[in-house]
Amino acid sequence: MTIRHFLKLADFSAQELNHMLERALWIKQKQKAGTPYRPFEGKVLLMIFEKASTRTRVSFEAGFCQMGGSVIHLASQGSQLGRSESIEDTARVVSRMVDLVMIRTFGQDRLEAFADNSRVAVINGLTNEYHPVQIMTDIMTFMEHKGSIAGRKVCWVGDANNMSYSWLEAAKILGFHMNLAIPEGYPLDLSLIPEGSDYYTLFKDPVEAAQGCDLVTTDVWTSMGYEEENEKRRRDFANYCVNEKVMAAANPGALFMHCLPAHRGEEVAAAVIDGPQSVVFDEAENRLHAQKGIMEFCLKGWVD
Ligand code: CP
Ligand code: NVA
Repeated sequence: MTIRHFLKLADFSAQELNHMLERALWIKQKQKAGTPYRPFEGKVLLMIFEKASTRTRVSFEAGFCQMGGSVIHLASQGSQLGRSESIEDTARVVSRMVDLVMIRTFGQDRLEAFADNSRVAVINGLTNEYHPVQIMTDIMTFMEHKGSIAGRKVCWVGDANNMSYSWLEAAKILGFHMNLAIPEGYPLDLSLIPEGSDYYTLFKDPVEAAQGCDLVTTDVWTSMGYEEENEKRRRDFANYCVNEKVMAAANPGALFMHCLPAHRGEEVAAAVIDGPQSVVFDEAENRLHAQKGIMEFCLKGWVD
């Protein structure tokens, strides 16, 4: 079987992404019914973290174990990666020992360098540019609450970051529209998104961007790795808080999502994230389930 890495959503067709989502929903049902599904017996997942994590760490480890496999956790501190062994040599070595690798790192180029030298499939657990497992999770959560995302409108408020770029890739592939309210001085990097401009619209005002949307979503103003910009960003993003006014402008019953961790009073008002339209904890739980569909696709291919 040819290796299919899961590095970014644009590497997949709509049919493939929908298949992973359907499989994730099926595997979730099995687990909720208490029926074991253990296709990874005898398999080993290696997780490499070069940035902090709570959800990614716990959901990948719990998910792989629940499917019958074992997991090894490697952090840059405490491994030779932290003492400047190259990412290429690391990939050549560890991919002879394990069946699947998940990496959270800085540049997408570093993830790609690992994948290029790996004998086994590699999953992106977040880079500076993309967070594809989170967006698959968010779409799965949307499907559970509202049905298919195709033809819908999603509002993104805040930073043009890894989350927004994976959202934009998903919109192009799966056929929904993104309204993005992004502050001046933080332009979209067009080299990171699919060609064309028919699948997104840019706004200055979050209230305007929310109109006609079935989902409003946001993320931290400062992503991991950009901490020195924190104070400037606090000032520049002050008007990019998802508050009750923004939610009121969206369609009635619109969902609120946030990949977490969140900062109440910055990118989202407490009344919104802790309010009735918020599904952030369903979303967090679905990391466990969505990634099972992705890992199954990487290890087993198309499963009917
Ligand atoms: N949303 C997310 O990726 O969370 P962690 O940083 O805790 O893994
Ligand atoms: N955009 C955030 C997401 C954290 C899960 C970051 O990269 O830090």
